[in-house]
Order: sequence, then structure tokens, then C-alpha cells
Amino acid sequence: MTSVAANNVDSSATLNAPAGRNVPLLFRAMTPNDARAVAELELKIFAMPWSREDFFRETKNDLAEYVVGELDGQIVAYAGAWVSFEQAEVMHVAVEPKLRGQGIGTLLFGELIKAVKARGASSITLEVRPSNTAAIKLYENFGLKSVGRRKGYYLDNGEDALIMWNTRL
Ligand SMILES: CC(C)(COP(=O)(O)OP(=O)(O)OC[C@H]1O[C@@H](n2cnc3c(N)ncnc32)[C@H](O)[C@@H]1OP(=O)(O)O)[C@@H](O)C(=O)NCCC(=O)NCCS
Repeated sequence: MTSVAANNVDSSATLNAPAGRNVPLLFRAMTPNDARAVAELELKIFAMPWSREDFFRETKNDLAEYVVGELDGQIVAYAGAWVSFEQAEVMHVAVEPKLRGQGIGTLLFGELIKAVKARGASSITLEVRPSNTAAIKLYENFGLKSVGRRKGYYLDNGEDALIMWNTRL
């Protein structure tokens, strides 16, 4: 198994590729030029994907804070939230399927939290499928706790959503 180790507290890490080559993983804010690549990744991952136009709009949305993770010049992860006063509401967290389980999601979510805190957020909330054990574990590691459910929230299969919060970012 490959692994990701943070080597820079701000915005980069190193992925140890199978060939032993160190590949830099860089985190930065999403730009309008990223909308196509992010939408392509979204289409691979989510049952109800946002479009390129949706992500393009997010780059112009004053409330939105999005970060992308780039490996060898390719976007392999992205996360975003809307920040309103002290509250951040997570809209997306996603990692390229082939690269999961190596700590990228953890680094990505850490970058998102850093970004929303810089905008003044002191609490963060999101909805997640109860069946999504990987995501729930990730969020719990960042202090989010399940505080309730929205019945039949997901339109594709009628699954409930767990509502998670961390009110002390
Ligand atoms: C959720 C997601 C972003 C996690 O990304 P990742 O790069 O695999 O995350 P990490 O490798 O940093 O792992 C995060 C934690 O989840 C755990 N985890 C990862 N995959 C897991 C799995 N399949 N089952 C159980 N736990 C898992 C890890 O062990 C780790 O916890 P630990 O540090 O305490 O060991 C990724 O699975 C994903 O993109 N899923 C599809 C999109 C999605 O569901 N997004 C969330 C919507 S709310």
C-alpha cells in the first residue's frame, strides 16, 4: 500500500508512488479553469453529480470555499463548503477512487477546515449517508458527531442522511 505523509503544514504532501518515486500532492483553491476536471471526477463518484457549470458557478460564489488536490498536475481530490458567518456547510468531499485509503481524504478535509476557519467559521456541518463508513470515520476524526437524521434525504435511493456537526472548530 502506498502512503501519503504530510511534509508541509500548509498545502502539500508527498505520495510514495509504487516505483518509489515521490510525487507531490498539492492543495490549492479551486479556480474556474478547474471546473471541467472537477466535474469529470464528480461524474465518476456521485450518483447525483454536479455539472461543470455548477462548479464554475461555485468559483464565483462569495459564500463558497473550495480546495482541490493535484497530483502530477491532475486533480485527484476536491472539497468545498459554504461559509455563512460562523457556520460552514460542507457541499463536497471526494478523492479519486483509485487513490483512496492513503490519507488523501484526511489531508483534503484538513485543508478545507483550514480554509473555512480562515473565513471565520467556528462550526462545520454536513450530511452523509449512514452506509458511508469511510466518510463517517473521516469526519469523526475531525471531531464531527452525528446529531440527527434527515429521513429519505437522498433522492437516488431514498437513504436517510446523518447530520454531523463540530461546533468547536
Ligand atoms: C470519503 C473519502 C473522501 C475518504 O477519502 P480517503 O482518501 O480514502 O480517506 P483517508 O485515506 O484519509 O481515510 C480517512 C479515514 O477513513 C478510514 N477509511 C478509509 N476507507 C475506509 C473504508 N472503506 N471503510 C472504513 N474506514 C475507511 C481510514 O482508515 C481513515 O481513518 P483512520 O485515519 O482513523 O484510519 C473517499 O472515500 C471518497 O471520495 N468517497 C466517495 C465520495 C464520498 O462519499 N464523499 C463523502 C460524501 S459525504
